[in-house]
Amino acid sequence: MDLALTPDKTAVTPLYRQLYQQIRQLILDGKLPPHTRLPASRDLARQYGLGRVTVTAAYAQLEAEGYLVSRTGAGTFVAAIPQRPLAADNQPAFIPSLSNWGRRVTTLPLEEEPALPKERPEIDFGFGRSFPHIFPYDIWRRLLARYLSTDDVMLSRYGSVAGFYPLRQAVADYLERLRGVKAGAEQVIIVSGMQQALDILARLLLNSGDGVLVETPGYAAAFELFRLHGARLTAVAVDDEGLTVAAIPAHVQARLVFVTPSNQFPRGGSMPVNRRLELLAWARQNEAMVLEDDYDGELRYSGHPVAALQGLDGDGRVVYLGTFSKVLFPALRLGYVVLPPALIEPFLHAKGLVDRGSPTLTQAAVADFITEGHFERHLHRLRQEYGERRQTLVDALAHELGGRVRYAPVAAGLHVMLDLEPDRDEMEVVRRAAAVGVGVYPGAPYHLVRPSPPSILLGFSGLSSAEIEEGVRRLGEVIGY
Ligand SMILES: Cc1ncc(COP(=O)(O)O)c(C=O)c1O
Repeated sequence: MDLALTPDKTAVTPLYRQLYQQIRQLILDGKLPPHTRLPASRDLARQYGLGRVTVTAAYAQLEAEGYLVSRTGAGTFVAAIPQRPLAADNQPAFIPSLSNWGRRVTTLPLEEEPALPKERPEIDFGFGRSFPHIFPYDIWRRLLARYLSTDDVMLSRYGSVAGFYPLRQAVADYLERLRGVKAGAEQVIIVSGMQQALDILARLLLNSGDGVLVETPGYAAAFELFRLHGARLTAVAVDDEGLTVAAIPAHVQARLVFVTPSNQFPRGGSMPVNRRLELLAWARQNEAMVLEDDYDGELRYSGHPVAALQGLDGDGRVVYLGTFSKVLFPALRLGYVVLPPALIEPFLHAKGLVDRGSPTLTQAAVADFITEGHFERHLHRLRQEYGERRQTLVDALAHELGGRVRYAPVAAGLHVMLDLEPDRDEMEVVRRAAAVGVGVYPGAPYHLVRPSPPSILLGFSGLSSAEIEEGVRRLGEVIGY
C-alpha cells in the first residue's frame, strides 16, 4: 500500500512528527477509512528510507490519540472513528449565535467613529499615550529582574485576588499623602486597568434600565461600558469647573454618577469644593453612588494636585478609581480601586471569578517602584516636562490663534481640548490639518449630545517644543483660512 507520504529530512519538524501529521490528515480526510491495515513499520521505514523508530514513534502517537489500533500478531489498523463534520464546499463556516450581551457588544459603539486620515502625520498631537523617553526603563528592568531572579515561590502561586499586599499598602499610603484619599490598604484593590474596575462595578451595581449620570463631553469608553450593562445614560454638561451639578435634571433617577473631578476628561477643568459637596449631597438625596475617575489627577502643572472627592465622602458612597496608564504606561494594565467597606466582599468575589487577580510580577515591581521613591521622582519629572510642553502649547495657541479658540484654563493632563468657533466644522479642521502634516483629533466622539459644539483635541506630551510650535503654526494657517 502506498500512502504517498512526503517526509522531508531538511525540515525543522522531526520526521516522526511529519509522519504522524500526514497519516492523521489522511485518516481525518477519509482517505484512510476505518479498519484499513497500515503497512508494517519495518516496511514503511524501508519504503521512505527512514529509521524504524521514526515510524514506530509516529504510530505510537497516533495510537495514543485514538487514530490507530494495533492488534498483536495482526498489525496496525485505522480505528473506527466517526466522520469529521465538514462545511460543504462553498458553504460559509458555522457562525455561533451570540448571547444578548454578545450582540450588544458588537453593536456598540452606537455612534459612528469619524473617518480619520490614515497616514501618521509628521507632527502628531495624539493623546492618551505615555512616552518612553521619560520613563526610567533601567530602574524598571532592575525591579522586574529582582523578582525574576529570586527563588521565592511568590511567582509560582496564584497571587491574591485583591492584589499584591505591599502594592495595596503603597497605593493606600500614596493616595492618602498626595491625593487626599481616606482609605486603609484593605480597601484598595488592584485591578487590570481601571476599565476592569468599571466593568466589575457596573455588573455589581447596575440592573438593565438603571440610570447613570455622565459628563458630556466625557470618557466614551465608560459610556459604552455602562450601556453594555443596559444602563440609561443621562448626560450632564460640564464647564470649566467640571460637572454642572445645578444642571442635573430635577427628576432624573440614577444609581451611579460617573465623574472626573480632578481634571475633567476630555475638556479639562477641576471641580471646586462647593460643587463636590453639592454632588455628594445630590448623591445622598438620590441614593446614588459616585464613581470618581482620577485617571491623571497627579498631572497638575500649576499649584498642587486637587485632593480627591473620596476624601470628602461622609457615608461610603464614593468609589475612587485610579490607573497607572498615564503616569507609568498603559501596557502595564494596572489600576486600582478604593472601595467603600460594603463593596469590598462583592467586588473581590467578582474579580476572583473574572480573572483570579491581576499579574503579580508587575505588581511587585510597581510596589518597589513606589516605596523606593522612584514613583514620586518620576511624577516630579513628568510634571516638569509635561508642564513645559503644555505651556509651550498654550503660548503658541495664544500667538497663532488667540481669540479663535478656547480651552479650560487649568494647567493639567496630557492634552488640551480646544473649543472652535461655533460655525466651524471640526472634521474639516482635522482633515485640513492632516493635509499639512498635523494630527489633531475631533471632539465629537466624547459628546453624548449631538450635534456637539465643534472642538478638537491636541495631546502635547509626545512632542518636542519645536514640534509643538511648528504644529500650532500650521494649525493657525488651517483655522485662520
Ligand atoms: C478618563 C479616563 N479614565 C479611565 C481610563 C482607563 O484607564 P485604564 O488604562 O487603566 O483602563 C482612561 C484611559 O485612557 C481615561 O482616559
